[in-house]
Amino acid sequence: MISTMVWQNLCLSLLDQTGLPHKIEYITCADYRRVATAIKRLEVRGAPAIGAAAAFAMVLAFNEYSRKALSKDSLLKSLLDAKNELVATRPTAVNLEWAADKIYAKAESALLKEIEWPVVESVIEAEAIKIHDDDISQNKLIGNFGAALLPQEAVILTHCNAGSLATCGWGTALGVIRQAQAENKVKMVYVDETRPLLQGARLTAWELLQDGVPATLITDNMAGWTMKQKHVNAVIVGADRIAANGDTANKIGTYGLAVLAKYHGIPFYIAAPSSTFDFACQSGQAIPIEERDAEEVKEFAGFKTAPQAINGFNPSFDVTPNDLITAIITEHGVLQAPFSLHIQDLQQKVKE
Ligand code: MRU
Repeated sequence: MISTMVWQNLCLSLLDQTGLPHKIEYITCADYRRVATAIKRLEVRGAPAIGAAAAFAMVLAFNEYSRKALSKDSLLKSLLDAKNELVATRPTAVNLEWAADKIYAKAESALLKEIEWPVVESVIEAEAIKIHDDDISQNKLIGNFGAALLPQEAVILTHCNAGSLATCGWGTALGVIRQAQAENKVKMVYVDETRPLLQGARLTAWELLQDGVPATLITDNMAGWTMKQKHVNAVIVGADRIAANGDTANKIGTYGLAVLAKYHGIPFYIAAPSSTFDFACQSGQAIPIEERDAEEVKEFAGFKTAPQAINGFNPSFDVTPNDLITAIITEHGVLQAPFSLHIQDLQQKVKE
């Protein structure tokens, strides 16, 4: 499985996902600003992957400012500015803020204890590596819990890319599919192309083919008919932010799929690690939704397809209300309704 990111000698190499599946190239980031740009451009994307990238970017920022700063206060101020810059790149995926906050808090507490700056740098570097490595082991657990929910001869529909590329490895929704494939349970995976940026067609299709998982690509508007005609028996997607009541933000189109799944009586699963939960966010109404350049809607893979003068609306995510969700699969187990109650338990577990 190809690595989404590699951290070595104070340098983060990011697989440029905008070139996939035709070009495999890594971008070298020795400066946190380059990581911020990569997140903005979707060269690295997917909630857990941008979280881990931001964690490494914070180490790069610390390294840079600890050489320049004259005092602990000015170092912390610069680090806070870098954190805010990183968090502002994409507003919906909470993993970004979660990871950057975690590194900032570690640096702050170490500096307050008067620990020497190079030692602080090793402490936060170890924390960033832990965020990265934990994500992979959590995905494996999600995969095991999720595969147990699937029937034999599973006919699955997925949206966007919640695979190895969207995480530090293995994937959330695709982690479930990978595990189900290992258990010989997968009959077919229908992959939504995922307009406008084609994460399904470019990335999920590529990942599934590489792993030999039976997969079929459809355009987004074929989902309802495919559910009916091909007897889809599970929909599995990832998440960018899950509110305390279970309302879930994910790639635009997810909400529509959940409505269709309900109509057809198909279980609708969200697969996500605890770092994707925003325990302070009461409901989906409070989740910030990224709105991207309308030009993306007016083109297809870079080719203009619409009259230049037409207006475009380009929300990058939508929110699926909790009552359309059958279960949320986490590394701590499977959560079902009443979600508020079970998400409170999850918060407790994460604190322990
Ligand atoms: O805009 P993207 O490609 O970053 O959107 C990604 C998604 O919506 C994924 O489903 C989500 O981040 C979960 S990834 C495990």
